[in-house]
Amino acid sequence: MQPAEKPENNTVIEKNMKEIVALCKRRGFIFQASDIYGGINGFWDYGPLGTELKNNLRDMWWKRMVLCPPIGPDGHPVQIVGLDSAIIQNPKVWVASGHVGGFSDPMVDCKETKKRYRADHLFFLREINDLNKIVCFVDGTEEDEQRKKLKKLGWSQDLTVYKKATILDSVIQHDLTTKVVGPDATKPGTLTEPKAFNLLFETKIGAVASDDNIAYLRGETAQGIFVNYKNVMDSSRVKVPFGIAQVGKAFRNEVNPRNFIFRSREFEQMEMEFFCHPSEAKMWFDFWKEERKKFWQDLGLTTGNLLMREHGADELVFYSKGTFDIEYKFPFTDPGFGELEGIAYRTNYDLNQHQEHSGQKLDYIDPERNNERYIPHVIEPAAGLTRGVLALLCEAFTPDPGRPSGVYLNFHPSMAPKKAAILPLTAKDGQPEIAEKLYMELREEFPVDLDIKQNIGKRYARQDEIGTPFCFTIDNQTVADQTVTVRERNTMAQERIHLSQVGDYLRRKIKI
Ligand code: GAP
Repeated sequence: MQPAEKPENNTVIEKNMKEIVALCKRRGFIFQASDIYGGINGFWDYGPLGTELKNNLRDMWWKRMVLCPPIGPDGHPVQIVGLDSAIIQNPKVWVASGHVGGFSDPMVDCKETKKRYRADHLFFLREINDLNKIVCFVDGTEEDEQRKKLKKLGWSQDLTVYKKATILDSVIQHDLTTKVVGPDATKPGTLTEPKAFNLLFETKIGAVASDDNIAYLRGETAQGIFVNYKNVMDSSRVKVPFGIAQVGKAFRNEVNPRNFIFRSREFEQMEMEFFCHPSEAKMWFDFWKEERKKFWQDLGLTTGNLLMREHGADELVFYSKGTFDIEYKFPFTDPGFGELEGIAYRTNYDLNQHQEHSGQKLDYIDPERNNERYIPHVIEPAAGLTRGVLALLCEAFTPDPGRPSGVYLNFHPSMAPKKAAILPLTAKDGQPEIAEKLYMELREEFPVDLDIKQNIGKRYARQDEIGTPFCFTIDNQTVADQTVTVRERNTMAQERIHLSQVGDYLRRKIKI
């Protein structure tokens, strides 16, 4: 499918988050969880179309990982098998993985507003001429907002005389408790020193609520893979190098869930742990970096909106030998980028930890290498499924004042929740019967809409807004010669094809 012609200057297309969120609600993609009770911060429900979109992304990932994995450097398809592990595991899993001890963000509380902020999401402006004047903002605060706040405080609004600093600035840290005016506070000295805050959600198992039966909702899908590594090895015919893939829910008690579904407390991940010989880890790391970038490009994320960012030494956890993030330019990060997926070389840290804590041997005897014994190294491409849905929505959102809907969703046909709509021009003259017959044939293979009522302009507008790539219109000529018009969403161009070709047409267009 031809992408819609894009204006030369990308900024002409104003991708406004508020409008994207409103469309998601209006058309049934995403709702606030518990909406009728006023919502619950950090949780989201997926409506009829959002569920289809999420499933499409999940299924494409599963296809590219498990059903039809890529061709490896040796010219053969790489081996990857699937898994679906429990959300609640023995709590020792999370002790071994380090999540119980260390899965935390540094948090700052405000005594005045009772709000809590992630310390690494704050930045500080300090007046050069008066070192006692320090004001703090949440990262991403618009300059307008900053000025308003400075005005309220009766301070100079000339931002150039302020020095920007981060939480890591030790002087600022020291000053936090006395001089800094917090993001929503009216006077200085209301912020606490940063404190660690564990992100794992706790629950209790069984009838008696005591500290002895604490369990955790998984903070990532990855650990379910590591603890099943031996089961998979023993029960299937995989040999190193191979991968285990899993898609599912993860839970993190995020302090500041924000930016719609970007950072939520319940979300979905698509993670794959690729086990290999240590001497080949670097090669596989490079391989997966390229594969994963290509995946997002194939789904329609444009190159200018994607960035491969290597973690600096100060960002790497001690056991990692390298991490790249695939980042996307979301409207709320623009001109910057936000993480979509991480590709990490985790060495054999996780398997080592589980071997030590469980007492089970997790080493591998390699028949290809003279029965060498070793604990495989791991390359982990870890993507956010729900965050991926947000990237697809943001990429697709295309304001177009020239059409009745004023906007359309430019999904790649493979991701579109509905692949086509079947629209008889009028509800008489035998047209609805032909439309219904076509609908019954197509629905066996494709999610399609049959829409008979309303004027045709309104029906096109609805399909544009939900991102349906093709509309098949049945008219008088269809009755006469069995041809239909195909209206293509982006260009609105129309052509006629024979009814018998419709299935093939869709199949061809949807394929990546
Ligand atoms: N096993 C490694 C791991 O979990 P991560 O970077 O913490 O790594 C992987 O998470 C991906 O999961 C991220 O790149 C992001 O897309 C997604 N993700 C993480 N936290 C999230 C949250 N609070 N809300 C939505 N998606 C999140």
